[in-house]
Amino acid sequence: MMRGMFIALEGGEGAGKSTQARLLAEALRARGQACVITREPGGTSGAEAIRALLLGTEGEGWHPRAEALLFAAARSDHVERLIIPALERGEWVICDRFVDSSRAYQGGGGGLSDAEVLDLHRIGSGGLLPDLTLLFEVSPAIVAARLAARDGDQADRIGGRDASYHAAVAAAFARFAEAEPERFARINGDGSPDQVHAGVMTALEPLLP
Ligand code: TYD
Repeated sequence: MMRGMFIALEGGEGAGKSTQARLLAEALRARGQACVITREPGGTSGAEAIRALLLGTEGEGWHPRAEALLFAAARSDHVERLIIPALERGEWVICDRFVDSSRAYQGGGGGLSDAEVLDLHRIGSGGLLPDLTLLFEVSPAIVAARLAARDGDQADRIGGRDASYHAAVAAAFARFAEAEPERFARINGDGSPDQVHAGVMTALEPLLP
């Protein structure tokens, strides 16, 4: 049995990742390729429980290192129980955010070094990396309009951080894509869902069944 492909979708808030995950899964299934859609933090019951701890807006919030450990713990459960078994069954895994979100948010925006975030990932998840990471890049004005429509200006604990935090996150993602061009495909996320989906399928062409 051929191992499935592991595709991660990354980008800031309002980048359209979840819509694109759904469109990609539909396109793969139409070609006869079994796939699972999942998300982080979350994807398994344990990781969803950690998600509630991370993103809830009750209480005083987490120290940056505790936050990074919780993301790594959620990811460890997700990788072990859902991602690896699906890949071994030959399914594709389409994951809305993965370790590059921890590198960008807890590293780039949150004060840990990239090496520290990657150490946590090595301990928690054997350093598993996606076969391809789709990075959705959207102009700030378009993001602002989408978030106002989606959240009615109510964001989660991390989404609600200030503009300079989100700018640091976007800059970190761009740096990762430049450093590892073979693992990243940069997708212009400004267009309609169908236009962005066309960009996704072009980027995936070399991997498609
Ligand atoms: P979610 O509602 O899934 O946001 P979005 O729709 O923007 O993807 O919430 C996930 C939030 O968690 C988002 O603000 C990014 C943040 N996050 C991290 O800070 N580190 C991580 O490792 C992951 C996976 C997410």
